[in-house]
Amino acid sequence: NYDDRTPAANQLLLYSNKHEDNTDVITTSGGDPVGMKTASETVGYHGPTLMQDWILLDELAHFSRERIPERVVHAKGAGAFGYFEVTHDITRYTAATVFSNIGKKTPIAVRFSQVAGERGYPDTYRDIRGFAIKFYAEDGIWDLVGNNSPIFFVNDAINFPSFIHALKRNPVTNIRPDYDAFFDFVSLRAESTHMVLMMFTDRGIPASYRQMHGYGANTFSFINAKGEFFYCKFHYLSDQGVASLTQADADRIAGVVPDYHVEDLYNAIESGKYPSWTFYVQIMTPQQAAANKYDPFDDTKVWLHGDYPLIPVGRFVLNKNPSNYFADVEQMAYNVANIIPGIDFSPDRMLQGRTFNYADTHRYRLGVNNTQLAVNAPPSMIHNFNRDGFATIKSQGGAPNYFPNSFNGPRNDPRAKALYPSIPLSAHTQRTDNGSEDNFTQAGLLWTRVLKEDEKQRTIDNMVNWLKQTNKVIAERAIRNFDQVDISLGSRLRQSLQLQFHLTTQVEL
Ligand code: HEM
Repeated sequence: NYDDRTPAANQLLLYSNKHEDNTDVITTSGGDPVGMKTASETVGYHGPTLMQDWILLDELAHFSRERIPERVVHAKGAGAFGYFEVTHDITRYTAATVFSNIGKKTPIAVRFSQVAGERGYPDTYRDIRGFAIKFYAEDGIWDLVGNNSPIFFVNDAINFPSFIHALKRNPVTNIRPDYDAFFDFVSLRAESTHMVLMMFTDRGIPASYRQMHGYGANTFSFINAKGEFFYCKFHYLSDQGVASLTQADADRIAGVVPDYHVEDLYNAIESGKYPSWTFYVQIMTPQQAAANKYDPFDDTKVWLHGDYPLIPVGRFVLNKNPSNYFADVEQMAYNVANIIPGIDFSPDRMLQGRTFNYADTHRYRLGVNNTQLAVNAPPSMIHNFNRDGFATIKSQGGAPNYFPNSFNGPRNDPRAKALYPSIPLSAHTQRTDNGSEDNFTQAGLLWTRVLKEDEKQRTIDNMVNWLKQTNKVIAERAIRNFDQVDISLGSRLRQSLQLQFHLTTQVEL
């Protein structure tokens, strides 16, 4: 009886039921009919296989090329499609077409992910979750590549590869986490304290992708039709509410249903329980940014909601599963540099680094023509002067491949020119480490004002689970950062850790 099984478990059966009248024949990848799929072509029964057995060679050669490089981060994930709908007018801040009028709908693709693990990684390990949205806007693609956290570990792109190396596998042992590397790096870069604390709260293991919020985290800018610009942050809050797994449940599930989140999302959408999120922005004027107490372009800090309230904008719904994971999700390419007129970048150093890195990794992972793949292509045609390269799909209809030209090729867009935020800048070039700004006040607010006692205790337990596997000099250095967040946090960590060391290795801190 298949009735009590999930849509994911029944995928093949559902296919079969829908295709009862299927008359397709097997073909080679050239589309030529195949008469016998289960035997190689041999010389006699025991003779060697023939070179001319194209049916065999075609399949073997394709098979050994099935994998492409996985994402260097965020490799494990799940995707779905749906739409974004405007519910509130924010045209006083931005002229972006996706927000042009209440009721306006824009198709979207969303990919959820884990940061640290590889493509087969269990969904319920403690980690930050990626939450990226591709808007197929009428004037091009807007990729909002966020996480389930409003902040990040580091605030200068130059520190990102090192942070990821410390989080991922040890290059000698191939084991992760390497607790020494992780706590060494984060204790030496105190700006990560806020995010490390958040990662060990319940937020570090969501119950499902549907039950977590998303955040753009970096600071962007908006430009309105009058050419005025504002800084902004994006928040998308789950209409399903937020829920997390305990460490014990997560550990158990990892061994039993490693694709727990992927399965949950697929089944929810397939059963018509479409998850949705309410979309908000925070707005900061350039004048407010200049006078703000903390750096508004530092993504290890939130913009306090009391000062910069959440302004409702819209809602998005996921109502369609991918038809093929590889084609639609593995090949999805989110690029922070994909913005539409009315939305722009900011001096946020992480965002600046990100504007380079995504398209670069896509060229490596998917090839130079990745934006021509169906899942990445904008609804409007791509009109530019790039041509050729591996897997060219679109030819741009014979338009000139150079600019300027006298042959009616594509031209500059006056609207995009007008919506450019021209920011007055003047300063000496420099390399100034921004890791020593106030790194502890906001982490202190998280600890003292946001976390309730039961979650505080779980946060201590979760962190000590990692700290106890760390060399004690590094553990002590890490705890000294938490002393500065709040003395009760540091001392509770120290106490709990001493107990753990006592129980396991008899080492005193
Ligand atoms: C994926 C780099 C910071 C969210 C990636 C990928 C790279 C990358 C190379 C793989 C992309 C692919 O293969 O398609 C960087 C760099 C950063 C940075 C250099 C800092 C300088 C961040 C931050 C966030 C974030 C701050 C969240 C606010 C994501 C997400 C994905 C991703 C969600 C997965 C996208 C997908 O689902 O395909 N990042 N990242 N990253 N990054 Fe970042």
